[in-house]
Amino acid sequence: MSSDRQLIVVANRLPVRNVNDDEGQRWVTSPGGLVSALAPVMADREKVSWVGWTGSAGRAPEPFMHDGMLLHPVSLSRADLQLYYEGFSNGTLWPLYHDSISEPEFHRTWWDAYVSVNHRFAEAVVSLAEPNATVWIHDYQLQLVPGMLRQLRPDMKIGFFLHIPWPARELFLRLPWRSQIVRALLGADVIGFQTDVVAHNFRHVVPRVTDAEVNDVEENLITFGDRRVLAKTHPIGIDYDRFAGAARQPETAAAVEELRQTLHNPRRVLLGVDRLDYTKGIERRLRAYGELLDEDRLDADDVVLIQIAEPSRSNVNGYASIRAQVEQQVGEINGTFGTMTRPAVHYRHRSHGFEELIAMYRLADVMLVTPFRDGMNLVAKEYVATRHDLSGALVLSEFAGAAHELGDAVVVNPYDVDGLKEAIEFAATMRPDEQRSRMSSMHDAVSHNTAARWATTFLDALERS
Ligand code: G6P
Repeated sequence: MSSDRQLIVVANRLPVRNVNDDEGQRWVTSPGGLVSALAPVMADREKVSWVGWTGSAGRAPEPFMHDGMLLHPVSLSRADLQLYYEGFSNGTLWPLYHDSISEPEFHRTWWDAYVSVNHRFAEAVVSLAEPNATVWIHDYQLQLVPGMLRQLRPDMKIGFFLHIPWPARELFLRLPWRSQIVRALLGADVIGFQTDVVAHNFRHVVPRVTDAEVNDVEENLITFGDRRVLAKTHPIGIDYDRFAGAARQPETAAAVEELRQTLHNPRRVLLGVDRLDYTKGIERRLRAYGELLDEDRLDADDVVLIQIAEPSRSNVNGYASIRAQVEQQVGEINGTFGTMTRPAVHYRHRSHGFEELIAMYRLADVMLVTPFRDGMNLVAKEYVATRHDLSGALVLSEFAGAAHELGDAVVVNPYDVDGLKEAIEFAATMRPDEQRSRMSSMHDAVSHNTAARWATTFLDALERS
């Protein structure tokens, strides 16, 4: 159904990055779940804008058109980066919302910066919003924007989606600014969460810190003053066709063969693809893998682990130490089990292009997705999408949102090293018929709940609210 309502997407980052190479300076789309989710939505709408940060400190460029969308950059100074981005967003909220795996820090100066930057985003929306526009705000960096917009522009439909978990009530209640955040979120008409568990955590905290009421019968409904807010589960998907299509390309098969030969034809390839973040459980995974080699339950002559750790938030507390720890473990494993020509772990601390990633997914017999806590984890879904021959095995943390949809993975408690070892060993020796039956149901789930479906159904619910 086409709509002439203006849609404004608001996220901390714009969906582009600035590239300056032989072809000159230009904006290039950064592929991500959100951009691809919006592609079909854009085809149905005349006016789509995106408000966000370019990724560099300093004065933002003027709004510009890119791929049919008006991009509206918001400036962040160096101080904003330190206090709002590295500070409150990634030093307070990120660890708190991920079960306090790393200790969250509470600083009033960080909070003040969070309020002021959220205000800047809200003002940017107001500067371009037509009457009755639909606004869709994303993620933990911008939780105050719904409330600010409700005050400034009550004519708009306001949606919010939280990509990361919402913590258990007692953890959230530690936050000194807990009621400001919940009240601001309730400025939205529809709030989306990745899983039932986190949607429940949110609804559980609402009456504790505000005078809003959660409906007894229909618990998705919250009454806040004279307004009704819908707080519901709405798990994000991937652009299935893009991943499944790329996996079938003849060039991909050739790249997989080349990669296999470079690795000296291992019998089994295990793969981890993560941002280098303490929530991802990389160190526990390496411990399990090292012990399996040590106990001869896996043989370093047969098997290899490729661990991609994409650089991330290197100035934020906790990230340098997790990097040091992971790199020390990789060194130890290779020092003990690797040979001159064949390391037991291939570790890459850099980001990878789409084609390279697809070739790795196709090469991997076992995909290891073992975060301590994760909102969804799209890597798990991407791997499944590339397994059109229904081969391969996915080891998946029960604390990743994806486990709610991919119950046929080998589901593990990522804190339990012995359990991880059993799961990895089981996945590495899984019979082809079992691989096929597990992969087939996961494939159905991933191809059904796509990113496009996620975006259209969220916006339908919002515009009907
Ligand atoms: C997670 C968050 C996103 C964030 C991304 C990358 O997926 O949910 O909001 O954009 O990590 O992190 P960065 O700090 O580089 O934006």
